[in-house]
Amino acid sequence: MSEATEASTATASSPLALPTDFRWGVATASYQIEGAAAEDGRGPSIWDTFCRVPGKVANGDNGDVACDHYHRWREDIALMKQLGVDSYRFSVAWPRVVPDGSGAVNEAGLAFYDRLTDALLEEGITPFPTLYHWDLPQALQDRGGWPSRETAEHFAAYAAVVAERLGDRVTHWATLNEPLCSAWIGHLEGHMAPGLKDIAAAVPASYHLHLGHGLAVQAIRAAVPEARVGIVNNLTHCEPATEREADVAAARRADGHTNRWWMDPLHGRGYPQDMLELYGVELPEKPGDLTTIAEPLDWLGLNYYFRNLVADEPGGPLPQARGVVPAGARRTHMDWEVHPPGLTKTLVRMTEDYGARCIYVTENGSAYPDVVGPDGHVDDPERVRYLDEHLAACADAVERGVPLAGYFAWSLMDNFEWAYGYDKRFGLVHVDYATQRRTVKSSGQRYASIVRRHRRRG
Ligand code: NOJ
Repeated sequence: MSEATEASTATASSPLALPTDFRWGVATASYQIEGAAAEDGRGPSIWDTFCRVPGKVANGDNGDVACDHYHRWREDIALMKQLGVDSYRFSVAWPRVVPDGSGAVNEAGLAFYDRLTDALLEEGITPFPTLYHWDLPQALQDRGGWPSRETAEHFAAYAAVVAERLGDRVTHWATLNEPLCSAWIGHLEGHMAPGLKDIAAAVPASYHLHLGHGLAVQAIRAAVPEARVGIVNNLTHCEPATEREADVAAARRADGHTNRWWMDPLHGRGYPQDMLELYGVELPEKPGDLTTIAEPLDWLGLNYYFRNLVADEPGGPLPQARGVVPAGARRTHMDWEVHPPGLTKTLVRMTEDYGARCIYVTENGSAYPDVVGPDGHVDDPERVRYLDEHLAACADAVERGVPLAGYFAWSLMDNFEWAYGYDKRFGLVHVDYATQRRTVKSSGQRYASIVRRHRRRG
């Protein structure tokens, strides 16, 4: 029996061995769901710009309307109630709050998150805002974007504005979502906004994202002394595809590129020397920065979707390592390998190698091409299985001593999947984009029953 099959059997037959005060949540992000791109004073973001570059986003899709959550947030909170979750991770759109990226604050933008926070709390749902989920104000991009130090400073100023406004009601804060994607996919691979392909821009972008994070942690704590602040990283368990020395070395590079580069500086270890040599780009370091970047965290967020089985790729794009999917492996609609044990291993590593004391799985989920059946139901057995198996992987991690405090399913509902547009559906709730009708999928029902069963036990 494979590890994965064992995991799903365990879930089906026994309650999950997770802490009694475990948080059950769902996650979304502003640009992916809000729409209302030009409403109430919101400024343009780099994603508005990127979506308009021909060929960058599948079908020429964009986030102008998305799930129209900006107008339908009440209905969406009702869906959360239906799923029975107690926590909601959403992101605040910087261009709504500070449309030019720095300077004037847009009261109408802040008011939206104010209303959302109040309504969540009224329903007993704990808000977990993330301050940056990739929608950088275009005005800041025009002044250099993340490769420029001033973006980090403006980020901290914006973080202070939001923390001062919501801090009387919000305790849990995340600074950045997946800075790896902002830096590497946005500045090195070119598949995400701002669409650059330049390691000389990507390295300073990564550095200033880290710096912006550290400065924002300080700003949030100054505004909200009891805040619990974390960061959300997408770490990927990397394994060599074969025992060949070249593949083992490639897996080490992939690990440096996706994991150590992002975790070491946060933990006061500076940037990994082997990666600095590989990139060959000087860090724009100033005295004291590394201490700011390593500002102690209250919690770590992990977004996990797949593992990385790595083969050497000499002469290929950095880090000269190619991900391979074994023959016969299950894949999602993203073509990502389904591999729940990688989640357990990543959680264990965060605990053992980085001494994490509180971890949330801040995203985990799968895309499948769902359809609404003639009876109005959306049956998504593969997503149900993915959910079951990954929750079992969480329970395995807890058994191995991981201080896992909660799980946020990605996503509450189908949404704008960045360069893949609307074709890739990750929701527990189906969205018909023509009518904006929401339909809870079988996976949403499954999640609700898992949450209920766990609470009864607690
Ligand atoms: C991680 C990102 O944070 C989220 O925005 C995205 O939709 C999911 N991965 C799925 O790709």
